[in-house]
Amino acid sequence: AEQSKKLMDPKDLVGSELSFITDNLARLLESGHPMLNTVSRYYFSASGKHIRPLLVMLVAQATSIGSKRQGRSSILVDNEFDHIDYSLIDRSASQTIQSDQESQASNRLIQDATRDGHGGRPYSPHVTAGLTILPTHRRLAEITEMIHTSSLLHDDVIDHAETRRGLPAIQKKFGNKMAIFAGDFLLARASMALARLRDPEVTEIMASVLCDLVDGEFKQLKNLEVEDAPMSQPDEPAFAYYLEKTYLKTGSLIAKSLRSSAILSNSTDDIVEATYIYGRNLGIAFQLIDDLLDFTVSAAELGKPAGADLELGLATAPVLYAWQEFPELGPLVARKFSVDGDVAKAWELVHRSEGVERTRVLARQYMERAAEALRILPPSSARDALERVAMSVLTRTK
Ligand code: FPP
Ligand code: MG
Ligand code: MG
Repeated sequence: AEQSKKLMDPKDLVGSELSFITDNLARLLESGHPMLNTVSRYYFSASGKHIRPLLVMLVAQATSIGSKRQGRSSILVDNEFDHIDYSLIDRSASQTIQSDQESQASNRLIQDATRDGHGGRPYSPHVTAGLTILPTHRRLAEITEMIHTSSLLHDDVIDHAETRRGLPAIQKKFGNKMAIFAGDFLLARASMALARLRDPEVTEIMASVLCDLVDGEFKQLKNLEVEDAPMSQPDEPAFAYYLEKTYLKTGSLIAKSLRSSAILSNSTDDIVEATYIYGRNLGIAFQLIDDLLDFTVSAAELGKPAGADLELGLATAPVLYAWQEFPELGPLVARKFSVDGDVAKAWELVHRSEGVERTRVLARQYMERAAEALRILPPSSARDALERVAMSVLTRTK
């Protein structure tokens, strides 16, 4: 049983890929300023879950087999230099480990394809399992983690967070200015790395994620500023608005990085779309669980503040459901839990209601939609792993 469990762990499939991420990120964030280096790498020094890079790598593997688009040309120029020494990012021969032989082989294939002047995708549908994760996929995984972390650096300033990943929050340690600069710097380096993928479609998709993140945060903020008369119950639009916001702030990055991963595999449109739908539903399920954990798990377990959403004035899914049972929550939601005792009262009503359980049920529905989207992918251990990651989102505790 132990062995089958081990075989099915998604990290077993791409774990060696993930182990390079932290080092590669540190190199991508090299700057001439020791302080900027320290601040921009700060959150990477704690062990993050790396769920986004994990998903990007698994989609890379799951889409490496099956039908391919014709006639697309995009070339990764991986060995060019400019004033940032990008050559440092790639693993040197001295770091070679077993699985690296595969990546060297795929690097060679890319170089060959490039040299031929065709610029086509360097492998056929008959590609063997070892050649499935391309250097472009790795870079995409790193870009995704940089964008995510950049948004967290800004978020912790906005939310006045005390802690993150078990560390003092960035601005508690280095101040607001440093946190914002570091966040901007991450985004800048992510943009450069994105441009270097030499894939206009992927560049456009990933750039649109940045708009979505701001849009999502703005919706969350604007929601708070609506001065409507308190409704006795949350109406359909209130839920729809919450879910749209949830897609924008969390689903979009996951969905679009997975779409990009499938595009880099040169997948056909239906496969590309399936990875997007998987990511979108998984992302929403992931954030629903995040909003639920805010009510059920201690700050020590989360490594970041618990019960924070009410303090921030946010009515997330557990509150919206509780409000259906307890109409007296309406005025508290409308005034953003700003009166003394509101937060404690709302907390108590949420726990007396079925809000937490109903949020879990909703998350499960999204998770199932995510798993369903995977069905059109050719069967593979990577596809199974994607399904397992979706299921694990429901039971996560941090
Ligand atoms: C965490 O949410 C925050 C996000 C998912 C996105 C934050 C986005 C911005 C601040 C917009 C700017 C974006 C960029 C790329 C510069 P949360 O506060 O609900 O979760 P938490 O409990 O982890 O803090
Ligand atoms: Mg926030
Ligand atoms: Mg926050």
